[in-house]
Amino acid sequence: MKITISSSTPSQLGTECLVVTVVDTADKSENAADDKPKPQILTDDPAVQAAAADLIASGEVTGKALDTTLLHKPAGLKAKRLLLIGGGKAKTFSTSELRKIAGTAVRAIKAKDLKSFALALPATGNFSAEDAAKSIAEGAYVGAFDADYYKSDRKVQTIGELTVISPATLDAKSLQSAIDIGTIIGEAQNFTRDLVNEPGNRMTPTILADRAKTMSDEVGLQCEIYGPDKIKVLKMGAFWSVAQGSQDEPARLIVMRYVPSSAPATPVLGLVGKGITFDSGGISIKPSDGMEKMKYDMAGGAAMIGAMRAIAQLKPNVRVIGIVCATENMPSGTAQKPGDVQIAMSGKSIEIINTDAEGRLVLADGLHYAKELGATHLIDAATLTGAVVVALGMINVGVFSNDDSFYERFSKSLAASGEKMWRLPVDDEYREMIKSNIADIVNSGGRWGGAVTAAMFLKEFVGDTPWIHLDIAGMAWMEDSKPWIAKGPTGTPVRSLVEFVRELGSKN
Ligand code: BES
Ligand code: MN
Ligand code: ZN
Repeated sequence: MKITISSSTPSQLGTECLVVTVVDTADKSENAADDKPKPQILTDDPAVQAAAADLIASGEVTGKALDTTLLHKPAGLKAKRLLLIGGGKAKTFSTSELRKIAGTAVRAIKAKDLKSFALALPATGNFSAEDAAKSIAEGAYVGAFDADYYKSDRKVQTIGELTVISPATLDAKSLQSAIDIGTIIGEAQNFTRDLVNEPGNRMTPTILADRAKTMSDEVGLQCEIYGPDKIKVLKMGAFWSVAQGSQDEPARLIVMRYVPSSAPATPVLGLVGKGITFDSGGISIKPSDGMEKMKYDMAGGAAMIGAMRAIAQLKPNVRVIGIVCATENMPSGTAQKPGDVQIAMSGKSIEIINTDAEGRLVLADGLHYAKELGATHLIDAATLTGAVVVALGMINVGVFSNDDSFYERFSKSLAASGEKMWRLPVDDEYREMIKSNIADIVNSGGRWGGAVTAAMFLKEFVGDTPWIHLDIAGMAWMEDSKPWIAKGPTGTPVRSLVEFVRELGSKN
């Protein structure tokens, strides 16, 4: 998809479809009489306003978020169709809604087999035109992705061109560069979705590592791939305890490095991802019902690979190390058993209570290794617990941190990414729950507060290093499609990671 800028008047642009945003300006909180929607078209072009006037007068178009209304041969417009998409309340209309509008437009237009469309850049006081243009690009790419690869009757519909219409008074060059940034981020998110979408037989640790290496070579990242021998030499006893059960598909330790020559020696951000390419549970085997979902247990690792790709392309002025601990979690004659004691790379001893609590084991060594490689700040992402899905559903990522000011900085990036996250605690009172009778800690704190005890386990391995843990178990895969995104892999939290790294780089 090519995304370009045009300064043409919306009504004067010849296009298959002109897409315009409608918001609802009624505000009950300020005026009790405002209980009916007051739709407003977000373009100054009177011809477009006139073309939509009847739809608004009839009450068919209200501005309700992501409602779509299509009009053929709109009077007074050169466009063949006019597509109105709701942006919700005017007061809260943000780049997050706009991103979804762009995705919704792409999906609606793809479904009609059209190859191109134009979208009028909505002007409000709520955000800059550059942020709007960037979000449109991101949303359009996210909307363009479909995960139905293995259907033999798959219809590949691609949109060739999206024209963003912006007033001639705006700087087209800076809008285009915002679009280019959004394109890189949207493509990185889809790159991650691609990896996550592949089933366990087609996304083994070896294949995941090969994909990371190929990508790294393309974008100019350093990338080293290590196998079982090196994992053992490094004494990654926690990572290996999971990997030892799957000798037929050997584990891979993926290390990607982004080292801009002008960046200061610190900070060094370590991005550590859980890369379980299939989680059967191991000897503590999962029930067969729903086990097929555990092909996406490498989504955290895939997010780190996607984020590193965008970072290499956007070139922020900060050092970043990406680490993915990739292995299957399988039952076999060599698999670890409940009751086993393992020694992590840090020297901590771990009593294995449940072999299905494997993500924290591979991350323990991944986080420790990131510090050994020089990381001064750590972020991990993992489909770590079912408990976080119980707590937050499929709306928010669970976020945990041992450092309030690091968390505050990170959370500022969420407004830019549009990804929702909710902080959960990791205070020391929970430490009781992971104490072991025979070793330093257990790998499972039991049923209560399961997302928190998993995070507490990770906290044991980060020490005083500022750290953020993202439990994406509920957010990495969507069972249902939304107007703006297909069902399947979401690519969360690639955008937030990239925004945060851009922000870090801008301070150097
Ligand atoms: N990969 C799972 C967590 C998961 C659950 C991811 C649902 C995506 C959707 C993880 O390895 C796991 O099995 N966790 C256990 C931990 C328990 C044994 C302490 C869980 O959540 O039940
Ligand atoms: Mn598991
Ligand atoms: Zn798992």
